[in-house]
Amino acid sequence: MSDNVFTRAACGAMDWVNERAPGLMPAYRKHMTEYYAPKNFNLWYYFGSLALLVLVNQIVTGIFLTMHYKPGADTAFASVEYIMRDVPAGWLIRYMHTTGASMFFIVVYLHMFRGLMYGSGRKPRELVWLLGMVIFLTLMAEAFMGYILPYGNMSYHGAKVIINLFGAIPYVGGALTEWIRGDFVVGDATLNRFFALHVVALPLVLLLLVVLHLGALHEVGSNNPDGVDIKKGPKGNRWSPKAPTDGIPFHPYYTVKDLFGAAFFVTVAAFIIYFEPTVGGWFLEPDNFTPANPMVTPEHIKPVWYFTPFYAMLRAVPSFLGTQIWGVLVMGAAVLILLFIPWLDRCEVKSIRYRPALHKVLLMAFVVDFLVLMWIGTQPPTATMNTLGQSLTALYFLYFLLMPWWSRMGTTKPVPDRVTVHD
Ligand code: HEM
Repeated sequence: MSDNVFTRAACGAMDWVNERAPGLMPAYRKHMTEYYAPKNFNLWYYFGSLALLVLVNQIVTGIFLTMHYKPGADTAFASVEYIMRDVPAGWLIRYMHTTGASMFFIVVYLHMFRGLMYGSGRKPRELVWLLGMVIFLTLMAEAFMGYILPYGNMSYHGAKVIINLFGAIPYVGGALTEWIRGDFVVGDATLNRFFALHVVALPLVLLLLVVLHLGALHEVGSNNPDGVDIKKGPKGNRWSPKAPTDGIPFHPYYTVKDLFGAAFFVTVAAFIIYFEPTVGGWFLEPDNFTPANPMVTPEHIKPVWYFTPFYAMLRAVPSFLGTQIWGVLVMGAAVLILLFIPWLDRCEVKSIRYRPALHKVLLMAFVVDFLVLMWIGTQPPTATMNTLGQSLTALYFLYFLLMPWWSRMGTTKPVPDRVTVHD
């Protein structure tokens, strides 16, 4: 290492900090340079770090947005327009935030799909999965509240419809909706509390959950595309005699790999932000470019694409005995059933690589089912759409409910003792 004045100053500063906070370097080593991750990570392992990148982007751009955003029924929409037209680079910051919201869900859905494919949430990583699910639920609440803040017409009517769903709960429903809104109708009080939750409370919860998620992962170690536990394999590599042979230090090997993924991701995001920020109405809907108007209901109220699979399931269930509660329960169950995946999956091997063809076909069918439900949720509720939605909702649940049975069917391929690396 060259011994110039900067290196000596940097080393001096680090020594100074280490003397005063001796716990820092061991923590850094445990989670970075001495965290031995399997050497066979593939493309699917980019999405965890990308989710982290988007989280940081949302927090930083969000902070800048709050400098000019004014919550309030009379001020919110105009303040967003002001950000878009008059604040220097305000449009850029806002589009980074709106694009980030959709990208967050793309990345998190792919991250969860990876978990399904490689059995990542199964023993001993159940806690990692459960914390991931709590993150997902919090993220949904965070996105919903953020969507209300610009107070466009879809924000208003979307908030009205979704909050009214709580009204379907017997006995307490009416009081609950009023408590959530802070008023008899969606208005000033609703916006102010959603603002507080969206910019302070939920981001803090998300950050804490992500720390716990990674903490839980680093206790047990990462899974990998072969689903083989590297801790059980031979010991010793060029860095440590005690480390798993098939493990490589997270830093610098995976920090460099993740930086490459981040650069690619940022390039794609930049194209969207600069050239097509609404993505044809999928990331930003046309109805939200007009101010909230309780007197004018949008022709077709629908949430943003990342909620539409669950919205399609809500709509698939007809009101029965004069209450919407059944639809609400089905929608809630559709999200909550994901919590149980680590226990529903009983296959003797984890990774899809060594599973029977039946499992691959069913997993693909599930993905198609989810994507078609996503599309149905964006369409007006015609009779055909409803019938299709009902069938696909049934298949969605059957995939999980019958998982303990079908995941034991078929002949698995022999799992290698050590991870495999494909060039
Ligand atoms: C803000 C959202 C999230 C962030 C920032 C995040 C971050 C990460 C990171 C950095 C990793 C390690 C790298 C990797 O394996 O890709 C990871 C692993 C993991 N995450 Fe997440 N995650 C998030 C949401 C979720 C969700 C919603 C789930 C599932 C319900 C989930 C389940 C998992 C599992 C099972 C692992 C272990 C994967 C393995 O070892 O193969 N995560 N997460």
